[in-house]
Amino acid sequence: MLWFKCHEIIPGFILALIYVALSLSGVFLYMEYESIEDVDTHCRIAYTAERNTAAFRQRNYSAFVVGFSGEVGRHLLEVLNRAKIFGKITLIGRRIIKLNNLGPEFEQRRVKFDLLDDYADIFEGIDYGFCTLGTSHGSVQSAEFNRVDHDYVLKTAELAKAGGCKHFSVVSSHGADGNSSFFFNRAKGLMEETLMQYNFERLSIYRPGVLLCNRQEHRPGDTIFQSLLRPVAYFFPTAVTLPVETAAIAMLNNVVVPNNRSVDIYENKAIHVVAGMASQYCPPELVPLRHYGNSFHRKDHDSEF
Ligand SMILES: NC(=O)c1ccc[n+]([C@@H]2O[C@H](COP(=O)([O-])OP(=O)(O)OC[C@H]3O[C@@H](n4cnc5c(N)ncnc54)[C@H](OP(=O)(O)O)[C@@H]3O)[C@@H](O)[C@H]2O)c1
Repeated sequence: MLWFKCHEIIPGFILALIYVALSLSGVFLYMEYESIEDVDTHCRIAYTAERNTAAFRQRNYSAFVVGFSGEVGRHLLEVLNRAKIFGKITLIGRRIIKLNNLGPEFEQRRVKFDLLDDYADIFEGIDYGFCTLGTSHGSVQSAEFNRVDHDYVLKTAELAKAGGCKHFSVVSSHGADGNSSFFFNRAKGLMEETLMQYNFERLSIYRPGVLLCNRQEHRPGDTIFQSLLRPVAYFFPTAVTLPVETAAIAMLNNVVVPNNRSVDIYENKAIHVVAGMASQYCPPELVPLRHYGNSFHRKDHDSEF
């Protein structure tokens, strides 16, 4: 009797699995190939970044990174360290961490984020700001999340603006929306809306989907979720996932290429394009000469500098 029932259930279960897999593939396929708004502009950034680097470097600008100990932040440091486009880079965090092989242009400053006004002098005269702060892990309560992903980010931006920052780049999230009923999306959306009122000369907002990384911090939920998404990332690389290296390269490419728009918002797929990792979406004349980003981002071309 039991055998008879298993006989019926198992094929039904397998069929249901196939149905779900096919439906999800359809959704991811659609997301992978849906058109990108303003794609030529994004392609042009990846295309021109390398050419602009030398001129940018000569200006000897300064930068700060807040959130440098996180996954996006650490990769941003690696890219900045290879690119050598800033004369001085101040790393602002709640703790001093050991960082190997960074150039002399980097310095760490420890701050108390609840008292950030007391550290306003750190931001004085810094031209470029990168903010990759966040508390995205599941155990975080909404109050803590709001405090870090909203309040601290805005306070950082306020001090940066007062200190003379020309271009503020911030990592937000896919789905950011000030009217959303999900607190995560709402906090990110409200943060973005307030940032826009600060009137930076340039404000670049990055909205990644799911970040792919080998997270240093132990987060089992995150690891399982990322493992489930690896096959999706393989077949549909720009649909929902974003390797943290790609995010870092996009932030750098975008900084060295001038832009007359004061606010730029990059969704997940656009971030891939700006990083030069998705040239299949670009017209042939705007495909970066070297695939996978520009030479200064690549370890094997370090000797050029
Ligand atoms: N993970 C995803 O899939 C995903 C998806 C979409 C958007 N995002 C967004 O992407 C951004 C970067 O993500 P990530 O994965 O790189 O973040 P992460 O690895 O968790 O790093 C977060 C950074 O914020 C700092 N931070 C966290 N809580 C803090 C607090 N209470 N006070 C001061 N600093 C604090 C961390 O400093 P410590 O090292 O000292 O803790 C670290 O430098 C975040 O804004 C996140 O919301 C992530």
